[in-house]
Amino acid sequence: MNDATIPATIAYIQDLFRGNSGGHDAAHSLRVYRNALRIAEGEPGCDTEIVALAALLHDADDHKLFHTENNANARSFLTARKVAPKKIERICEAINAVSFSQNRGKRPETFEGKIVQDADRLDALGAIGIARTFAYGGEHGRSLDESVAHFHEKLLLLKNELNTEAARKLAEPRHAFLERFLEEYEKESNQK
Ligand code: NI
Repeated sequence: MNDATIPATIAYIQDLFRGNSGGHDAAHSLRVYRNALRIAEGEPGCDTEIVALAALLHDADDHKLFHTENNANARSFLTARKVAPKKIERICEAINAVSFSQNRGKRPETFEGKIVQDADRLDALGAIGIARTFAYGGEHGRSLDESVAHFHEKLLLLKNELNTEAARKLAEPRHAFLERFLEEYEKESNQK
């Protein structure tokens, strides 16, 4: 990988996600990238290039947004950037380990996959997680209460499903903030 690969990948995802709002956009991918690098700092032994590129491209073939097969968007971008085929395989393997719905209960097999999955999950917690949940709910015609149900069904469980110690530390204040938000939401909802 040369030095220009990361900026080129950022430009690629900004273009790819243009017009998407809320849950899955370039800003989400950038936050996942920064989360992933922070986790990687606390987890020596991982390949940070794989972590960085998999984090940036983790939604490039998301089935909710694109009708691609076999990581086609990520693969064609990386191939055009002349990333080595072996490395592309490892990046796609890490990307495919991320999805919550497809991998429920299954831990990623590679270290890099674990880190990127944790980084993605961190972005579902805290103030950002709350904002994303309501943005996604609004796009899909869900009421506020229906979005709040999603906190109980998914988001509050994430803290215990993280793979790395570094991510568990970063998740703590975000999880606590979710709980505080829910408490206040219930209080205001039930006010007579
Ligand atoms: Ni994501």
